[in-house]
Amino acid sequence: MSKNNVYIFDTTLRDGEQVPGCKLNTEQKVIIANRLDELGVDVIEAGFPISSPGDFSSVNEIAKIVKNATVCGLTRSVKKDIEVAAEALKYAKKPRIHTGIGTSDSHIIHKFNTTRQQILERAIAAVKYAKSFVEDVEFYAEDAGRTDNEFLARVCEEVIKAGATVLNIPDTTGYCLPEEYGAKIKYLKENVKGIEKAVLSCHCHNDLGMATANSIAGVINGARQIECTINGIGERAGNTSLEEVVMVLKQHPYLNLETHINTQLLYSTSQLVSESMGMPVQPNKAIVGANAFAHSSGIHQDGVIKNRETYEIMNPKDVGVDHSSIVLTARSGRAALAYRAKKVGYELTKIQLDKVYNAFLNFADRKKEILDDDIHNIVKMSNIGTSIFA
Ligand code: KIV
Ligand code: ZN
Repeated sequence: MSKNNVYIFDTTLRDGEQVPGCKLNTEQKVIIANRLDELGVDVIEAGFPISSPGDFSSVNEIAKIVKNATVCGLTRSVKKDIEVAAEALKYAKKPRIHTGIGTSDSHIIHKFNTTRQQILERAIAAVKYAKSFVEDVEFYAEDAGRTDNEFLARVCEEVIKAGATVLNIPDTTGYCLPEEYGAKIKYLKENVKGIEKAVLSCHCHNDLGMATANSIAGVINGARQIECTINGIGERAGNTSLEEVVMVLKQHPYLNLETHINTQLLYSTSQLVSESMGMPVQPNKAIVGANAFAHSSGIHQDGVIKNRETYEIMNPKDVGVDHSSIVLTARSGRAALAYRAKKVGYELTKIQLDKVYNAFLNFADRKKEILDDDIHNIVKMSNIGTSIFA
């Protein structure tokens, strides 16, 4: 059975860059865009051109250099926004305008002080206007997660008629449960006339830690694009993490869904974004965190030394991490100590290992992590007269 492709829409440079204090300049954005293109993302959302002259010029420069991916600019359902985005994107090989409006009653009443009918009309007009500049127009129904499904289906149907090629269904507030978000996508697949003409897209925020689960529920139910950011960065608790959704699909082949991502570039891309933004990656972050392939408890270390797959469901090399690491702490066992001692040149017999292990435990109770230099000192202190490998 041939696999279905899920398009990866990267919004690190737009939604991701909305992290307070992590603003990038155009030069940094161009470097990241180049790397995202190499990584194999299908769409790069380069910015929100009307928001500032800096953002306009970033989108403009990115549009000039990107070789493979579609380059996209965000707009509101406002004529001027759309004109400015079209101008910023004019050098792109594959330009896309991403326009939209809030569709939940909360947005309609409190943000726009208007009616569903007027929102529908503004949505149609925005898509038609964007379509007069570019062929590829994505429509977002902001706060779709809390939008009544029947009204959402009506909006989707009308914007497809107006020419939308992609329908973005954002869970803007990160509120949905995976079942609920999946059911919303299924409802749209089953109830929107003409849905086969457009790609449904998941755009899930992480306020309750469910962005990845919701996006996966979306593609299982028929969406074929995921909007995400490197390291899951973004406003509040962030966006869906690119590396997580890509690896979920790779590690679960029976889902028959795949992406174009070169996964071996995931770790270095994560580092590039983290360093450029001055935003460290949490050590326990799935896939790219410093501890994602580190083992520190005795039971786990023994299992991994015998067979890596005992405690690892993916190969670190597949995401660009050289190897798994065996971290020595007071929770480590003899197997881990022997393994690390061997790496720095000591082949310990069982009796020698017992002696060194006792010295190690005393040391480890005082120090958080035992490093290679510490191993040399511990072996010396144990007085066992070991042979050292050349
Ligand atoms: O979260 C959201 O709804 C958005 C839209 C502007 C696409 O980022
Ligand atoms: Zn968003």
